[in-house]
Amino acid sequence: MHKSDTPRTYRVKSFGCQMNVYDGERMAELLAEQGITPAPEGEDADLVVLNTCHIREKAAEKVYSDIGRLVKAGEEAGRKPMIAVAGCVAQAEGEEIMARAPAVSMVVGPQAYHRLPEMIAQAASGKRATDTDMPEDAKFAALPKRRKVGPTAFLTIQEGCDKFCTYCVVPYTRGAEISRPFSDLLREAASLVEAGAREITLLGQNVNAWTGEDVTGRELGFDGLVRAMAALPDLQRIRYTTSHPNDVTEGMIAMHGEVDKLMPYLHLPVQSGSDRVLKAMNRSHTAESYLKLLERFREARPDIALSGDFIVGFPGETEAEFEETLALVDAVGYAQAFSFKYSARPGTPAATMDGHVPMAVMDERLQRLQAHLNRDQLAFNQASVGKTCDVLVERKGKKPGQWLGKSPWLQSVFFEGEAAIGDMVRASLEEAGPNSLRGEVLEKVSA
Ligand code: 5AD
Ligand code: SF4
Repeated sequence: MHKSDTPRTYRVKSFGCQMNVYDGERMAELLAEQGITPAPEGEDADLVVLNTCHIREKAAEKVYSDIGRLVKAGEEAGRKPMIAVAGCVAQAEGEEIMARAPAVSMVVGPQAYHRLPEMIAQAASGKRATDTDMPEDAKFAALPKRRKVGPTAFLTIQEGCDKFCTYCVVPYTRGAEISRPFSDLLREAASLVEAGAREITLLGQNVNAWTGEDVTGRELGFDGLVRAMAALPDLQRIRYTTSHPNDVTEGMIAMHGEVDKLMPYLHLPVQSGSDRVLKAMNRSHTAESYLKLLERFREARPDIALSGDFIVGFPGETEAEFEETLALVDAVGYAQAFSFKYSARPGTPAATMDGHVPMAVMDERLQRLQAHLNRDQLAFNQASVGKTCDVLVERKGKKPGQWLGKSPWLQSVFFEGEAAIGDMVRASLEEAGPNSLRGEVLEKVSA
């Protein structure tokens, strides 16, 4: 590799989950602290960070085609961008990337990106660098303070996963479960609020597995953290994602009935409605135990909006087993959900199981499942019509004078009138579509 100039502009492209979005924001802040500025819209950047996702599909192939595109655009413009591959593909396939893509200067895993500045200096002096270490905790301590954020912000409180669902790469790419310390989290939350956040979404692969100690050394669970965050005066809303059924506690259910700032929304993946499939997935819950949990959340907070994740076509899934998933969906009535075709991930136990389901069957099952989920999402939105709720304004809408925000139940609500980003307005919900609602503003609650 040739020596290259220290980059002056950067672009971070994040794929995949919200944690990657959070990591992408933190990398951007870190680069900004080094005096590197975001590349203006439509202009090539000196440094491109591809923050990759490995959870499904041919993610790695996509990375190579992105790299190819960047190299070509660089050649056409007579320049050579510095390319960093970050995220879970970097973690899982770092060495291969380095071997296959000479244009890549840096490979950096999700636990090591605080070391980007040194890696950039190294790359500028002509040395390629790989860092896929998983040092506990070091990353967050090394990242700069949050300075300016929008009204909604993410905060990673927990990372990694010890559950080892047989289809999933996360335990390998993100490592073992770790919880960030309580005082660091409260400090970061306070700085997010100071920087403009009105809503914080607590993130973790198993967010409700978080444990820690408060300042007096008393042990706290996830609900203790949420209650402590709710005491931050200018923070108006708290959300969290993603939870695991096995880490649900009494306290976590109770907080939904007791903490006003906690939004009535729960994303609790189930993956399948068939106990045989759940067992083969190593989920350690049954369809019935999951439904019972949801019942208890509904008792604590009757208007809670439910969301989940589903996989169709897990190896060996029969038509009858798939129909058990449809029956579970019908029993719950989800407000929102995410559904995927099973994708064999190299190195996971399911990848070598018998009975891989043909793509055409998976396509057909996914369509049927999504028909049920879409029906329920529309029904949930329609049932909201006539309600009055607070809407946190996130951005301008497509039409002039239009604004877009979120209801407590995470629905997109658009409305016309006087407002600004970050306002909380009270609105009556007038009309519902599959993906959004139209509201009318009654009053401004806070700015
Ligand atoms: N194939 C399909 N979907 C998957 N998910 C995780 N791994 C796979 C896979 N190999 C889905 C699960 C999980 C969500 C984040 O992604 O539904 O909850
Ligand atoms: Fe993957 Fe299962 Fe862990 Fe979720 S709980 S990250 S699906 S292994």
